[in-house]
Amino acid sequence: MRPAVRCFGLAAPLLLAASVAHGIEQGEPRSGIAFASPETRAMQADDTANPGLFWVLDGEQLWAKREGAAQKSCGDCHGAASASMKGIAARYPAFDDKTGQAVDLTGRINLCRTRHQQATPLPHEGKEMLALTAFVGFQSRGLPMAPPADPRLAPARAQGEALFTQRMGQLDLSCANCHEANWQGRLGGSPITQGQSNAYPLYRLEWQGLGSLQRRMRACMVGVRAEPFDYGAPEFVALEAFLATRAKGLPVETPGVRP
Ligand code: HEC
Ligand code: HEC
Repeated sequence: MRPAVRCFGLAAPLLLAASVAHGIEQGEPRSGIAFASPETRAMQADDTANPGLFWVLDGEQLWAKREGAAQKSCGDCHGAASASMKGIAARYPAFDDKTGQAVDLTGRINLCRTRHQQATPLPHEGKEMLALTAFVGFQSRGLPMAPPADPRLAPARAQGEALFTQRMGQLDLSCANCHEANWQGRLGGSPITQGQSNAYPLYRLEWQGLGSLQRRMRACMVGVRAEPFDYGAPEFVALEAFLATRAKGLPVETPGVRP
C-alpha cells in the first residue's frame, strides 16, 4: 500500500475545512458497524462468514489447555466460560486490587498467566492472546457495554480523556478532532466513525487478521505521524478506560469486522 494511504496527511486539511460540529453529546453513541458497507455488516453478522470466529474457536481450545508450572487451565479455575466470562468484557477495563491499577482484558489474562498459572505473559498482539481475548469477549456478545461505577477508575478515565483531546503528531490532531468533531465526515473516501471500542478484538479486512483495540489506536497515531505508545502502555489502558465510558450501552460485537 502506498505511504500516502497509511498516513491521514493529505486528507487532514480537507477534513478540518469540512469540519461540522457533530459532537457526540448531540446523539447516541453509534457503533462503527453502522458506518460499514452492507457487505461488511453481513460478514460480521454471519458466524459462518465472520473470520473472527476462527480466533474464538482457537481461544476455546486454549481455555482448556493446562499451562505453566501450576499446570492449570483457565477452565480448571473458572469452569465453563459461557457462565463465568459472561459480561466480563462489557465491564473492562476494571480495577485490579493487587496492582492498584486499571487493567484491560489483555492485562487481566496475563495476570492470570503469571499469578495463577505460573506461566510467562503472552505477547500482546500474538495469536494466543488474540484468541483468548476474542473467546472471552465473545461470551459478552450482544450485552451492553457497562463500564463499572468504580471511583478507583476515575484517574485512568481522566487521563484517557486528556489523551483523547490532546493534539499529537506532525498533523497536530487529537482523537477528538476526528472522532468527536468529524464523525459522519469522510477521510480519503472512507467514513469516519465515533471511534467506538465495543467490537474488539476484531477482524480488519486491511489487516487480513484479528487485531486489538490498541493495534487500531496505534494505526490512528501513526496516521497523524505521532509516535505510538507501546502495547500494554498505561496510556493505552487509560484511553481504553475512557473509550469504555463513551461506548456505554453499545452492544459488545466481539469479534467485529471492519474494512
Ligand atoms: C485524522 C483523523 C483521526 C484521528 C486523529 C484519530 N483517528 Fe481513529 N480512526 C480514524 C479513521 C479514518 C478510522 C477508520 C474508520 C473509523 O472507524 O472511523 C479510525 C478508527 C478508529 C477506531 C475504530 C472504530 C471501530 O469501530 O472499529 C478507534 C477505536 C479509534 N479510531 C480511536 C482513535 C483514538 C483513541 C485516537 C487518538 C489516539 C484516534 N482514533 C485518532 C481517524 C482518526
Ligand atoms: C489457578 C486459578 C486460575 C487460573 C488457572 C486462571 N485464573 Fe483467571 N482468575 C483467577 C482468580 C482467583 C481471579 C480473581 C482475581 C485475582 O485474584 O487475580 C481471576 C480473574 C480472572 C478474570 C477477571 C474476572 C473479573 O470478574 O473481573 C478473567 C477475565 C480471567 N481470570 C481469565 C482467565 C483466563 C483467560 C485464564 C487462562 C489463560 C485464567 N483466567 C486462568 C484464577 C485463575
